[in-house]
Amino acid sequence: MPLKVLFASSEVFPLIKTGGLADVSGSLPTALKNLGVDIRILMPGYSQALAKLQNLHYITTLDYLSHIGSAEILLGDMPETGVQVYVIKAPQLYERDGGPYADVNGQEWQDNPIRFGVLSKVAAILSSNNSPIKDWQPDIVHCNDWQTGLAPAYMRLTENSKAKSLISLHNMAFQGCYAPHWVTSLGLPNAGYSIEGFEYHGQLSFLKAAVFYADAISTVSPRYAKEIQTSTFGFGLEGILTKRSHEIRGILNGIETNEWNPQCDSHLVETYCANNLAGKAIVKKTLQEKVGLHLDADAPLLGVVSRLTYQKGLDMLLPILQKLVEGGCQLVLLGGGEHGLESAFQNIAQQNPGRVSVNIGYNEPLSHQIMAGADMFIMPSRFEPCGLNQLYGLAYGTPPIVNATGGLADSVIDSNDANFANGTANGFVMVEASSEGLLACIWRAVHMFRHDKNRWDKILHNGMSQNLGWDKSANEYLALYEHMVR
Ligand code: ADP
Ligand code: GLC
Repeated sequence: MPLKVLFASSEVFPLIKTGGLADVSGSLPTALKNLGVDIRILMPGYSQALAKLQNLHYITTLDYLSHIGSAEILLGDMPETGVQVYVIKAPQLYERDGGPYADVNGQEWQDNPIRFGVLSKVAAILSSNNSPIKDWQPDIVHCNDWQTGLAPAYMRLTENSKAKSLISLHNMAFQGCYAPHWVTSLGLPNAGYSIEGFEYHGQLSFLKAAVFYADAISTVSPRYAKEIQTSTFGFGLEGILTKRSHEIRGILNGIETNEWNPQCDSHLVETYCANNLAGKAIVKKTLQEKVGLHLDADAPLLGVVSRLTYQKGLDMLLPILQKLVEGGCQLVLLGGGEHGLESAFQNIAQQNPGRVSVNIGYNEPLSHQIMAGADMFIMPSRFEPCGLNQLYGLAYGTPPIVNATGGLADSVIDSNDANFANGTANGFVMVEASSEGLLACIWRAVHMFRHDKNRWDKILHNGMSQNLGWDKSANEYLALYEHMVR
């Protein structure tokens, strides 16, 4: 009998996406399905998801859910891959304008504890004997981040589920902490509200619930698995993580190679591959034209696609940007987030027309075009659980320039002499997480781009010929699932 896995997530590409969690939730289940796992996704019934899922049909109704009473469970198929998806049809919670976590102005939805409490509760119910769905009962509930963090607690404390639970930690910075009255109003037993449970500094913590009650813990890179056990990266949960140290697996994310592949990317005017980079030059020119940069094939074009938050470290780029421009570089940035960062970049763009292009907002096609058209990709994150953009950079022949943390440290190999000699060099790693460190690293890359074409071609080739798909990591998840049910 194949293993049955319920993969619970709050965002799934191409249905709805704010970041890398959606990429992983869209592509990892497909890879696991290809390995023979009987996997189904569970997600909220956002309008966007209801509109894009195929063959969507009614399965059952769940009653007695906190705050909302009942909700319908529908089942549909992912476009393209056909992976099956359960959605929770609760229009009062999920069918609104705006994003999955916040309204159009970026204000978090006030009822997020209910919205994701219900998601967690439904995951727990579907894994237990209380589930009305008798012909498909999961062996494992695979939870992702705080939004599904209460599921392991409900499974253990209220649903008496026999299934095993796994929490994958994609980002310790987001924990879902709410006032203690939510404990009873979400139907959790008060006994769990303690240090040995889901209490965290006088609040109910969704993520701590998962870390405490889940049968297994994974995170998205080996380096981050170690980092989250320290006070710098554990965001307060390092103590409890250290106690479960030997149980934490770090499994590096893969990329969806049908979606992110310069040989068949429908967002590009020309496709290209490692052995023929002519198309990349055309994509660069088209990109320069599109975002209002001077058409200059020789100018080193730096690319950024990112949430603009403290995590991503792009504030380190601000004080050095003018120097880079004066040194002949161009910058194209796509992103959104903290208003201070957005306007600081916009100001520099205004002062440097034709050399700095700042594009605020979310734009899927442009993200691909930057990944392909830029000469190098800038990602100086202060912490980065895995990071997908640096992997896309490798695949697109756009060497990543990164800080040595988390998944960046696990995937980007600095282009120093030793790594050229052993044939692994694929990007540039900062020696120090500072503006000076970033500037030095970018100059090193620019110098090679301008003066050492042999080495530049070599690093492009090394990155582009890596196997960045899910094969290896999906097998590691499978081994973990098998270990959990044994
Ligand atoms: P994180 O999930 O922390 O934001 P990742 O590198 O794992 O970081 O994933 C980010 C994903 O979101 C990538 O697929 C990236 O292309 C995408 N992305 C980020 N910002 C934007 C944007 N403004 N427009 C389009 N895609 C974006
Ligand atoms: C989070 C992390 C990012 C990771 C992504 C998918 O958003 O910030 O580093 O790649 O999850 O796992």
